[in-house]
Amino acid sequence: MKTILITGGTDGIGKGIANHFLNKGDRVIVVGSSSAKGDLFLRDARQFGAEDRAIFLQANLSLVKENKRIIEEVKSRFDSLDKIVFCATNHKTNKEYFETQEGIEFSFGLSYLSRFVLGYGLKEVLEQGDSPVILNVCAPGMNGTVNLDDIQNKRNYSGAKAKYHGSRLNDLLGVAFAHNDTIGKIKYILFNPWAVQTSGTFEAIDHPVTKSIMKLIYKTIGKPVDEAILPIIDLLDNPPKHSLSAFKQRKKVSLSMKTFDKENAQKLHNITGQMLEGLSKK
Ligand SMILES: NC(=O)c1ccc[n+]([C@@H]2O[C@H](COP(=O)([O-])OP(=O)(O)OC[C@H]3O[C@@H](n4cnc5c(N)ncnc54)[C@H](OP(=O)(O)O)[C@@H]3O)[C@@H](O)[C@H]2O)c1
Repeated sequence: MKTILITGGTDGIGKGIANHFLNKGDRVIVVGSSSAKGDLFLRDARQFGAEDRAIFLQANLSLVKENKRIIEEVKSRFDSLDKIVFCATNHKTNKEYFETQEGIEFSFGLSYLSRFVLGYGLKEVLEQGDSPVILNVCAPGMNGTVNLDDIQNKRNYSGAKAKYHGSRLNDLLGVAFAHNDTIGKIKYILFNPWAVQTSGTFEAIDHPVTKSIMKLIYKTIGKPVDEAILPIIDLLDNPPKHSLSAFKQRKKVSLSMKTFDKENAQKLHNITGQMLEGLSKK
């Protein structure tokens, strides 16, 4: 029996992956902010007789302290982890700059910093597994730049810009993680699912007309969750040999793209480390 931790495993792509592994007989730990969604996940697990292998941990992962609490809880309850899948996100595009109580831009905190903190914080427990994998569901293979002088987009904030910027930060997170991992047992996979028909993508749109248009577009170009997760399942079951790889659906993404620049990755790694150090002193 494998143990898989999935952030954002209570909805959308994450829930699809969680249910697949529960059905297969594995143990699945999901993390989400809503207890109601967590209860639904546990109820579904009971229905297919997997209640003893389904664990829900409630946490607001936009907060560093909550990520640290989850790390401690996982480490105290489980000797090893086999896979970690990062799916937690909020598709809503904030119109204005919004900070968490820790003074971190919300989208940056949830979509990038959480994955940084959990990845490094759970590294040792993951290394106890036979074939450990971190699969970061983000958006590799898209162009764009990072602003290393303003990684949280504090200046000239735009919600849409912050989202795209977050995707590029995750590209660099994967590069730095693989580069700094001297043990090299963990396979880090950056995965772009392309357009997937999850409720989160539609709920994030306030305007009813825009929402209907988006639903129509996603119905045409997007995939249902059950179909979209198939390449993810394959990668988790048969991870590539390289310490870092990137995929857009089933297609390999070249790591020679500028978005995977090693120097930028290391700079971002250092800036993030300093930011976390500053936070822990507060
Ligand atoms: N869907 C697409 O078309 C698409 C395209 C490209 C990339 N992606 C990426 O795929 C991943 C999954 O997307 P999705 O569409 O499946 O998302 P989704 O359906 O909206 O699900 C998001 C998950 O994240 C959790 N979450 C949200 N805020 C949280 C918080 N503050 N703390 C902890 N958990 C939180 C949600 O649970 P709660 O609400 O209970 O917190 C839910 O389980 C994301 O990384 C996304 O960027 C998706």
